[in-house]
Amino acid sequence: MNWQNEEIISEVKEELDKFAQNRFFLLGEYTDKFEKMFAKNQQSEFFIGLSSGTVALQLLLRSQKLPIGSKVLVTSFCPIPTVMSIYEAGLVPKFVDINPKTLNISVEELNRVYSKDCKAVIAVHIFGKMCEMEDISNWCKLKDIPLIEDACQAVNSKRKESSIGQHSVGAAMSFYPTKNLGAWGDAGGVITNSPEVREKLLYLRNYGLNSNFVSESLGGNYRMDELQALILLKKLPLQSKDMELRDRVLNFYVERLGKSNFQIDTSEDYHNKHVTSYLMNSNESREKYRSFCIDKGLKSVFFYEQPVYRHKGIKENLHLQNCEDVCSRIINLPTDEMRQDIVDFLKEIT
Ligand SMILES: Cc1ncc(COP(=O)(O)O)c(C=O)c1O
Repeated sequence: MNWQNEEIISEVKEELDKFAQNRFFLLGEYTDKFEKMFAKNQQSEFFIGLSSGTVALQLLLRSQKLPIGSKVLVTSFCPIPTVMSIYEAGLVPKFVDINPKTLNISVEELNRVYSKDCKAVIAVHIFGKMCEMEDISNWCKLKDIPLIEDACQAVNSKRKESSIGQHSVGAAMSFYPTKNLGAWGDAGGVITNSPEVREKLLYLRNYGLNSNFVSESLGGNYRMDELQALILLKKLPLQSKDMELRDRVLNFYVERLGKSNFQIDTSEDYHNKHVTSYLMNSNESREKYRSFCIDKGLKSVFFYEQPVYRHKGIKENLHLQNCEDVCSRIINLPTDEMRQDIVDFLKEIT
């Protein structure tokens, strides 16, 4: 069992008696308490609990009332739900190449593909490493288009004193079970400092209803459920210990393998180590590492082995060079285990 789950299980069992007597299984006291605690914890004004990270992105896009069919600038190096949320909001993705050092988009790459029909940007903090938010936000202001953060992998991350949600209309969070802060099912939400965005999301998540049960706008069923809020409340105090453990594991690998192939600049980033990525020298050495993983019974599928535009549902005929190159060489190292055999193997083949 994952150590965080082990740590909370007896408290959860005790709390379930009280939970069962609850009159509100949705949008009740647990969600309310988690929303307040999590907003404070992430140094933000508001947090709105939703049913998933994908929904959080979709509703943030819908809250901006962009013309249907508008283009949204988005990284080519991300998981498919980021792009799904764009289609679900009635919009169309326009893919941006990455900076191979950060694995994130940059102003330079945005300028390369921008056209007048681009009406928003989603900045994805890939693997928990935050984008250069100050620069991207200034660029968006010049173009007069909203900036949305996909912080689904970035709970607890910071950059140069910037926090999540500070430079955007809102940041989507996911509590998918494998995240640093993981629920026992689907859950997500939005961090924002804007009262207007908060209000729109409160309507959108609950069929558009106001307090008199009249629908103000077309919404849906996108609520966070109370049981997930209970689990997240119990896990929130464990986050600093989780960060310490991840730090210790990362330092083990960095000390032995050197900094250059990691995408983490520990001097300026407060990275949450959601995923530790390492760039091999070539696709050939990556394939050797894959065989090593298979032999050892380790995970042998890496994030991400293809640019997101190559998924069958998208079918864009693109070739963004930096992204293609990274996808052909990337591996992930364990975030919870210090393995000397991995270090030895990587040293031997690179
Ligand atoms: C970067 C990113 N965006 C979006 C999502 C979607 O979140 P969810 O699975 O909660 O819908 C994920 C989840 O894995 C993610 O890693």
